[in-house]
Amino acid sequence: MSASAKARLEALANEIRAHKGAGCGFEVCETCTQLVPGVGPASASIVIVGEAPGAKEDAAGVPFVGAAGKFLDSLLAEAEIARDQVFITNVVKARPPKNRDPTRDEVAHHWPWLEAQVEIIKPQLLVPLGRHALARFAPDAKIAEVHGSVLEVDGRRLFPLYHPAAALYNGGLRATLVEDARALGRELS
Ligand code: URA
Repeated sequence: MSASAKARLEALANEIRAHKGAGCGFEVCETCTQLVPGVGPASASIVIVGEAPGAKEDAAGVPFVGAAGKFLDSLLAEAEIARDQVFITNVVKARPPKNRDPTRDEVAHHWPWLEAQVEIIKPQLLVPLGRHALARFAPDAKIAEVHGSVLEVDGRRLFPLYHPAAALYNGGLRATLVEDARALGRELS
């Protein structure tokens, strides 16, 4: 991995963080504690994409540090995927107030950052978590039909998973997520 990809990813993270206070007028950017660019190396083979930071992530400046993040960590362990293979981020980089869904305009406002991250990292697979993140990449796909396998859309290879937070509320999804995570590990090996 060239040093320049690492440098470009870091420069992009700094640009995203510096957006706080830029006065863009979007509620998410104005009301969040900080923008959360993402975490992981430029050499990652997968980019995992959630929807938006929650309260814990907003406070920490790091994605997936709450309960869903702990479950995500255990899924990566099940998949035997090392942390240095993974970049974790969100479609929207700022916490929506009261964890409401991001608006279409907010998604459009933040989308170029995700595109730029993916362009720098050039992962083997993009892993959207849950139906909201999936809908941004594959508007016609249904998570219940496409989870746990490769989906090719617009020249991109997606490997959609249910959102780990969904399994915290619906225990029945836990085993499916573990199975799908193992399948993801096999796809990468
Ligand atoms: N849920 C998400 O979609 N993203 C996070 O960063 C945390 C929880």
